[in-house]
Amino acid sequence: MSRPTIISGIQSSGQPSLGNLLGAFLQFIKYQETHETFCFVADHHAITVRQDPKKLHENSYAIAAWYIACGLDPAKCTIFLQSHVRAHAELGWILGTFTQMGELERMTQFKDKSQRHAQNINAGLFTYPALMAADILLYQVDEVPVGDDQRQHLELTRTVATRFNNVYGDTFKLPQGTFPKNVARVKDLQEPTKKMSKSSDSLGTVFLLDDLKTIEKKFKKAVTDNVGAVNLDEENQPGVANLLAIYAACAGVSLEDAAAQFEGSQYGPFKAAVAEAVCGTIDPIQKRYYELMDDKTELDRIFAQGAAKASAVADKTLQDVMDKVGYVRPVSL
Ligand code: TYM
Repeated sequence: MSRPTIISGIQSSGQPSLGNLLGAFLQFIKYQETHETFCFVADHHAITVRQDPKKLHENSYAIAAWYIACGLDPAKCTIFLQSHVRAHAELGWILGTFTQMGELERMTQFKDKSQRHAQNINAGLFTYPALMAADILLYQVDEVPVGDDQRQHLELTRTVATRFNNVYGDTFKLPQGTFPKNVARVKDLQEPTKKMSKSSDSLGTVFLLDDLKTIEKKFKKAVTDNVGAVNLDEENQPGVANLLAIYAACAGVSLEDAAAQFEGSQYGPFKAAVAEAVCGTIDPIQKRYYELMDDKTELDRIFAQGAAKASAVADKTLQDVMDKVGYVRPVSL
């Protein structure tokens, strides 16, 4: 029997954050032993917001390097660049014709990003979820591990797949979203009711490339409350609850144990302990990241190998879809 399959992707739109690390990168590692694991760099998605070409180029390598630095082994899983597997853009186009305007208009990420990038509300930003559906459905996956902000996109993927299957017969497997416990939405350290975002430049986002001193400073300045006691109470103490979730994930303990450990503690030492746990997690990953970024030839080789493996799966689904829709197959002359 073949192994269950998962896929996930991370945009190469900037420096990844602690939210990406805990909600995504570190979540993928466990799958590679038991699942057919596809992890890709979403460069097509990144350009829905205007990118500096040099930075985009560098960031695409960077995401691959972070995947590996976090523990993904290219010998055990498939790491690839979205634009290297042409089937993504092609199926994305086809699925756009199975996605309704009204459905896309309801996407909170679109509403959010069009507010933040009011000068460039482009059609790609709007149809982004159809491409994301293609990313997933091409691989006939069982699970898609993602953070909480991708929940709506996952639901739309299932809707589009069901719509296509209803017209053309069983074509796409319906994927299940998998969301990590406690860290599916790591919050901004300055505004703990908001998601920590890599596109923010405030003190509230910890970047994986921040040096350890900067990380310590960001935690020291993290917004808490005036209750003055460490309790696990997300509604009334969102800042403290966020710090507890971050601590638990980095120290490898349950949320309840983390809360018990800091009961009666003052905020100062509590924040210092969270910073220490985060630095302990990030430091070795950062070191591996720098080594990997020093050898782009090796990353190119991993991308080439990954694209070949991914294309073999993706092209099969795409051909099936094209046949079903009624496209004419090209003949070789
Ligand atoms: P992106 O690049 O914004 O984020 C990558 C992953 O990180 C998760 N994430 C978080 N998790 C916890 N707390 C946070 N503060 C936080 N911020 C981000 C995201 O949920 C995501 O899992 N659309 C996707 C990329 C994508 C994709 C796909 C993912 C494109 N096609 C197909 C899965 C399958 C995105 O923008 O991720």
